[in-house]
Amino acid sequence: MKELLKGLNIYLIGMMGSGKTTVGELLAKELEYRFLDTDAIISAVSEKSINQIFAEDGEDEFRQLESDVLQEVSAYLYTVIATGGGIILRQQNWSHLRDGMVVWLNVPIDVLVQRLKDDDTRPLLKREELQTKLISLYEQRKSLYQQADITIGIEENDNPNDIVQKIMVEIPHKIRQENSDLN
Ligand code: S3P
Repeated sequence: MKELLKGLNIYLIGMMGSGKTTVGELLAKELEYRFLDTDAIISAVSEKSINQIFAEDGEDEFRQLESDVLQEVSAYLYTVIATGGGIILRQQNWSHLRDGMVVWLNVPIDVLVQRLKDDDTRPLLKREELQTKLISLYEQRKSLYQQADITIGIEENDNPNDIVQKIMVEIPHKIRQENSDLN
């Protein structure tokens, strides 16, 4: 697999609560890659939680930090990168995502609701009915997530290792398909 990938970064995209960080850490181990998480870097660099950034500086500032961090991390190779759920929103971010392989973790809304019902770390999910908000975000973003190179459909009972195995099956398919498209 390492030879096939040739150091190409893997970007995990998907809704909040889709497991990008957990799956990303495991996938990085499996591939012997470095693991980075854009939200964690944004928090570390700004010395604020994501909630604080949204409350004090606003979403636009957060999106700018997110684009800046993505630009920085895209300079690496051999890296699995867990992104924030909204990274797909800015067109300019796609030029960096497209330098690597983009994997969408597509998790049913009911599963996201269960995972996020007691979470208070996501500013966009505050003060609103969780399921309604998740459905509306998903509807707004679905066509963007669908631009991923690989879509992993996740079922309720899939554990993180199952998901990593699904990704490990799809990566070589995708690379071979791209190589044959070039020939
Ligand atoms: C966001 C997702 C969050 C974080 C921020 C905004 C979004 O990341 O970047 O709260 O717009 O979907 P996770 O997807 O890791 O929860």
